[in-house]
Amino acid sequence: MAHTIVIFGASGDLTSRKLVPALYNLLRAGSLPPQTRIVGFSRTPLSDDEWRASLRESTTRHVEGGPPDDDTWSRFAAGIHYQPGDIGRVADLESLRERLAALERGAAASRVYYLATAPQFYEPVVAGLGALGMADESTGPRRVVVEKPFGTDLETARTLNTHLHGVFHERQIFRIDHYLGKESVQNILALRFANTIFEPVWNRRYIDHVQITVAEEVRVGRRGGYYDTAGVLRDMFQNHLLQLLMVTAMEAPVRFEATAVRNEKVKVLEAIPAFRGDDVANAGVAGQYRGYLAEPGVAPGSQTPTFGAIRLEIDNWRWQGVPFYLRSGKAMSCRTTQIVIGFRQPPLELFNAGRRTFHREANRLVVQIQPAEGIQLHFHTKVPGAGMRLRLTDLEFSYSREFAGRIPEAYEPLLLDVMQGDASLFARADEVEQSWKVIDPFVREWAAPRQPVPVYEPGNWGPHESDAWMAAQGRTWFDQCPVLT
Ligand code: BG6
Repeated sequence: MAHTIVIFGASGDLTSRKLVPALYNLLRAGSLPPQTRIVGFSRTPLSDDEWRASLRESTTRHVEGGPPDDDTWSRFAAGIHYQPGDIGRVADLESLRERLAALERGAAASRVYYLATAPQFYEPVVAGLGALGMADESTGPRRVVVEKPFGTDLETARTLNTHLHGVFHERQIFRIDHYLGKESVQNILALRFANTIFEPVWNRRYIDHVQITVAEEVRVGRRGGYYDTAGVLRDMFQNHLLQLLMVTAMEAPVRFEATAVRNEKVKVLEAIPAFRGDDVANAGVAGQYRGYLAEPGVAPGSQTPTFGAIRLEIDNWRWQGVPFYLRSGKAMSCRTTQIVIGFRQPPLELFNAGRRTFHREANRLVVQIQPAEGIQLHFHTKVPGAGMRLRLTDLEFSYSREFAGRIPEAYEPLLLDVMQGDASLFARADEVEQSWKVIDPFVREWAAPRQPVPVYEPGNWGPHESDAWMAAQGRTWFDQCPVLT
């Protein structure tokens, strides 16, 4: 069956930086299903050829391995079409419907409507598609992809879900979080559930705490207008960090398919107890990098956090009493996304007679998701020579050393999944609502800070309050970056 991918917001950044390069890479790798068309829709008046030319130029900048060669590009460009129009005008959506019908020539085709617009247009597009019968599946599957941000809090997320469900069935809705398309995020599932050696220790008996860090060197830059209303909690925690938390903490699904996987993920969020009273103030630290207030689009005196660290508990049999520390920031010392499983100390200090407490670091399993993908296991070894001197050493697995070839960009497998109707790696309605339930108390608390938001120097690991907060809990952040290169 042919596929038509309709991109709303075709002249936007996401389309040129991520979506089209991902589709091009799929075609180049021979993975894009034959007869796939891409139809762009946005207000900018362009012809098919003008859009193709502008995409060729942007794709050249955003794909690895040099500019597209003429042959591959002409095969790709032959499937690219453009329809100018205003989302808010019914007549323009009707023209789009006619254009799609003409391109599909009455043959069965699966359609993906990709909402790559600003979020305020999600509802009008969905309403328009519904009113014009474009969600009807009599000539092939109809699916809609909704980008983040999915709402700005629980209430707006619920409203958006209600609008979507007014037109599409849940099985047709794909809420995308590109972190789930990253190879090493999916590998956490393989690590945990394709092996027997990790699962027996993956619980409160052996694990002291878990740290999930997404550190970025970049600053807010040109995105100040958006970022100042979002802040780090909405931009990174509600989606990417909670997704990482869910795959780290979930139980094994009964089978590897969308409903079973997503059931287990939601249960993790459901097990996070609600915060009461002052608890939320003590369960996190915010920060803002020096210089943020000078970024274009940022309100004078803004208190928006660009850094956050929060502690969540998961009250179930596996995790009760094990804190999960989630941390993310812009203008940090280096770019890394990593999950650090911090194990308990052994029951007895055997190698330091007379001491009851440990002065050695405990075992760790570090899953590095980016910049380089891989895993490191930290454990103690005897230093050769006399006496029982110990040193922390590691076992390492690196994707690039193990596997030849390029690692696909996150959008590539996700776009294929949508085309094939596999929703395993997409957020379900209840999942996004639960994630807002977890994050909303922090958003409210940090929006009305009791003290000015702590400032940190760019190039640090957030404000020193974050280290002090960790130390007060008897722990230290794992600030090595990157552990794998
Ligand atoms: C986006 C955020 O969702 O994720 C950005 O809006 C952030 O602020 C980006 O920079 C990080 O994605 P990645 O894949 O570069 O880690």
